[in-house]
Amino acid sequence: MAITASENMIEFFGAIMSEGTAVVLIGEAAVAAVIVVAFVLARLHKGKYHHWLMLTAFASDFLVFKMIMAVKLVDGNYGTFPWDIHWAILPHVLAAVATTVFAIGAILLAFKHYTKKDGKMLLPPKGRKHRWLGRLFIISWWASTVLGYVIFFKFYVG
Ligand code: HEM
Repeated sequence: MAITASENMIEFFGAIMSEGTAVVLIGEAAVAAVIVVAFVLARLHKGKYHHWLMLTAFASDFLVFKMIMAVKLVDGNYGTFPWDIHWAILPHVLAAVATTVFAIGAILLAFKHYTKKDGKMLLPPKGRKHRWLGRLFIISWWASTVLGYVIFFKFYVG
């Protein structure tokens, strides 16, 4: 097993892991739920609620959970580069980087193009790039997260 224990280890659902890993597991599951709800709200044309939820999901994901993972990576918890478990870590990290780029692009385009009518937040046709970058964000986020859970089960549980 390549993962080293440089933090407080705890037992969580029968597996031994660092406190940071447990926080990330719970946090990313919550972010997943928020992203699903935010997407459904966009489909229902509830732009105002959609935008608050997406901003919350991205900010908590990037500023809290991705940062915990980045610190663990830099601290050498997964070995040195190329990481001992690079076959799983590298695609996970690359998908996470793509996720961040797509999210920032989607947010900038949304703020540039949205309009308001009767208190509702709407996207005119020229805002279609926001929709496409938003969809790419959702796809890459799920890819990164599923790969993250695969790493977890492989190295902590399996
Ligand atoms: C990471 C952040 C965001 C993501 C991933 C995202 C994603 C999406 C997606 C995928 C759609 C199209 C849904 C569909 O019809 O298939 C959409 C629509 C929309 N988004 Fe976002 N979004 C984000 C942030 C924002 C922000 C910050 C705003 C406002 C400033 C915004 C405003 C809107 C609006 C107004 C719509 C159209 C809703 C409608 O059809 O009436 N979004 N977004």
